[in-house]
Amino acid sequence: MKKISIAIDGPASAGKSTVAKILAKQLNYIYLDTGAMYRAITLATLKNKIDPADESQVKTVVQASKIHFEQSDHGQLVFLNNQDVTEEIRLPEVTNLVSQIAAQEFVRQELVRQQQSFGAEGGIVMDGRDIGTAVLPNAEVKIFLVASVVERAERRYQENISKGIMTDFETLKKEIEERDYKDSTRVVSPLVQASDAVKIDTTGLTIEEVVREIKTVIDVKN
Ligand code: C5P
Repeated sequence: MKKISIAIDGPASAGKSTVAKILAKQLNYIYLDTGAMYRAITLATLKNKIDPADESQVKTVVQASKIHFEQSDHGQLVFLNNQDVTEEIRLPEVTNLVSQIAAQEFVRQELVRQQQSFGAEGGIVMDGRDIGTAVLPNAEVKIFLVASVVERAERRYQENISKGIMTDFETLKKEIEERDYKDSTRVVSPLVQASDAVKIDTTGLTIEEVVREIKTVIDVKN
């Protein structure tokens, strides 16, 4: 069967990366977590104590940052300038700043260019906010995953508990809403459903059910 490109977009914590990883494994495709790339640049900005609003300084950080991924027994690892930052990029200070960094034109230009070169051969599942609209506009399959904000906050809350992190549910909900707002209202490639994307509401669905729905879309489209 021909190796296609699958774009999965949607708001924060809609389950994109979980289903994208499962799909990539089942199809024997590459998985690219584009959010991890924006997170890595955000971490580099914090580490270098750069003012996140100073776009020319952030540009310098992007130019000095080399991001790569490696597979391990524990899943995909993210490296920034050859340092493993897989866990650090999930820290709350990164999560709360990433949308401001991701809204900057140069940051997007450079990361989109890298993402497109990853996806050039097909056989890829990419998840993010602008994959179907900007990164892979010709992807054979485009999925737009959504879920209610309460369910997304609940998932994040349970995920944090499983990692031993105690968070306030209302704060999580507010942070998700703020990030969605920033991602959807930015000028450059805002989070929006591509006109040819299939929308799946994952509220109340299990991961297996979501994967099954996406596979049905893949079968219908190919
Ligand atoms: O997917 P994740 O929640 O890790 O993404 C973190 C942030 O990176 C998003 O809130 C968004 O600001 C940015 N992002 C983006 N475009 C993508 C992927 C992520 O702007 N394709």
